[in-house]
Amino acid sequence: MKPYTSIIKMIGNTPILQISLKKTLWELYLKMEKFNPGLSMKDRMALNMINQAERGGFLKPGFTIIESSSGNTAIGLAVVSAVRGYKFIAVVDHHAAKEKLDIIQAYGGKIVFVKGNYGKGEVAIVEREETARQMCQEIPNSFCLKQADNLNNRGAYIDTLAKEIYKSISKVDVLMGPIGTGGSLSGTAEGLKKRNPKIKVIAIEPIGSTIFNSMGGPYLQSGTGNPVGADIPFNVNYSLIDDHGYVSDQEAFNTCRFFARKKGILIGGSAGGVLYKAIEYASNQEGRGKLIVIMPDGGEKYISTIFNDKWMRENNLFNRKVDAYLEIHV
Ligand SMILES: Cc1ncc(COP(=O)(O)O)c(C=O)c1O
Repeated sequence: MKPYTSIIKMIGNTPILQISLKKTLWELYLKMEKFNPGLSMKDRMALNMINQAERGGFLKPGFTIIESSSGNTAIGLAVVSAVRGYKFIAVVDHHAAKEKLDIIQAYGGKIVFVKGNYGKGEVAIVEREETARQMCQEIPNSFCLKQADNLNNRGAYIDTLAKEIYKSISKVDVLMGPIGTGGSLSGTAEGLKKRNPKIKVIAIEPIGSTIFNSMGGPYLQSGTGNPVGADIPFNVNYSLIDDHGYVSDQEAFNTCRFFARKKGILIGGSAGGVLYKAIEYASNQEGRGKLIVIMPDGGEKYISTIFNDKWMRENNLFNRKVDAYLEIHV
């Protein structure tokens, strides 16, 4: 392998891990996006949004990038900003994992919290975006990338993540992934369906998220889903999504803990949620098939929450039934 000449060139080409299932002939593959430099899939869209803004003349050397983020987009932007010489400010709410905020600051990014009191499971996306918009108006030479509606988010995955999947695995039947802005799932779906329109795409959102018409409510899975009151992001392309499902915080987090302890695989909360639903889906299929799942990030960013017994207990998140189910199927 030739040496890389920039950390940016190390974005993408993440490994795929196959998981054996006990009760089905279906094959399950995990696209391990934690192996990107900023430790999540969002590095891909951060790079593409910055590249396109530079091409459009909106970003010039020395500018400040301001973005509302649950953390992973901000880390990706902080990495690229460090390399390209931009200042970076992340507008976050209390939902952002502490580990993510520490990482943003390690790359030289600044953190601004939105004002207001919010419940534990409430995500303040509307307030975050409004704060970022105001700051962009007030701070000279600043630019907001607006990940929810910037189609260079979705565009980032079409020729990267999708291509990496079809180059590694022949004849994928089902793609499953989480959905927040919709960029990663819609973009990957677009790239895969261009080659094989028969691929079934399934979106998984937390119970309480509003992308597929639910009434909405609080949830603790970070980065994924669309909270009550927030508009559906432009990056969600419903025409490419064939089916959808909901996952509880208990299912998501106990799956993360099971895979860490029993399989040595440390994944984040949204990854745990999609993985649980993927195991359930594959285990209920007849015959043979191939299911690939997007694992957005790693568990390293959730050590003080999902992997902390006290936090799990305080939030009533332990559920032995999830472990028992996984024990039978994986
Ligand atoms: C951990 C995690 N999971 C899922 C998502 C949702 O991905 P997307 O915004 O591409 O729909 C994000 C987005 O920030 C994330 O950080």
